Amino acid sequence: MTRFSPTLLKEIADERGSLVALEGGRDVPFEIKRVYYVYGTTPGVSRGFHAHKTLRQFLVCVNGSCSVEMDDGEYREQVALDRPSNGLYIAPMVWHAMHGFSSDCVLVVLADGHYDETDYVRDYDEFRTLTNRS
Ligand code: TYD
Repeated sequence: MTRFSPTLLKEIADERGSLVALEGGRDVPFEIKRVYYVYGTTPGVSRGFHAHKTLRQFLVCVNGSCSVEMDDGEYREQVALDRPSNGLYIAPMVWHAMHGFSSDCVLVVLADGHYDETDYVRDYDEFRTLTNRS
């Protein structure tokens, strides 16, 4: 059973190479308000370890690879992001952590809101309480 499968993005490929377009409200299930990217990750580190109360995000590993641990309080799954044609939607109140970054990994994140520290749930016990599955 997979609850957190990556979305297959449409690749437009010709003899010159490949192109993927991400349009808010079409390929990505929200209007995009912020883009950030993670790269140059120190070998062996993991990132994330939080959920968001309301923020919706969409992850694309545009170079290299990493894996994303997803946990909605009931079900936990490790999702591999290893090609630019895969996108992973992270809904609100899904605990996530990114592991296994390749040295060339560039992880692009699209989000539907500006950065807001008050939207983070960084304590796993609090996350479990909020999801009523403690
Ligand atoms: P954080 O969300 O903790 O990163 P990760 O989930 O990858 O572990 O953010 C790391 C730092 O970057 C933190 O000081 C907040 C800052 N930051 C911004 O200023 N704007 C942003 O859009 C993001 C995502 C982080």
